[in-house]
Amino acid sequence: MEGVRRLLEAHVVRAYAPYSGFPVVALVEAEGEVFLGVNVENASFPLSQCAERNAVAAMVLAGKRRIDRVHVYSPKGPIPPCGGCRQVLMEFGTPQTPVLLHGPEGYVEKTLGELLPLAFRL
Ligand code: THU
Repeated sequence: MEGVRRLLEAHVVRAYAPYSGFPVVALVEAEGEVFLGVNVENASFPLSQCAERNAVAAMVLAGKRRIDRVHVYSPKGPIPPCGGCRQVLMEFGTPQTPVLLHGPEGYVEKTLGELLPLAFRL
């Protein structure tokens, strides 16, 4: 966990969050590799992208399709992923996939199923 924590803290500074002042980094563990994403905001607010979805995009680009574990970190506190990101994570995870919400004081662990019960799946 120390290595993950180091990666989260090293990359959260790359978040582009001038409008919200709320930097977020996500790390997705997938098939033995890790993929990072940060939130990237835009002056046209709805075009802003969440950290989780950028991490998932990096994972897919690398040819991975199975999310084994997810970490989300913000120095503003352990933040739960937004509803849209829960659905995107579920596309490549399962209800059992661990989701660790990291804040300055440590982390809390949930499962994707706890965060998104009755997920829509095709
Ligand atoms: N944000 C994320 O990156 N992930 C989440 O799950 C929640 C929200 C970002 C979006 C926006 O840039 C900022 O946090 C404030 O909403």
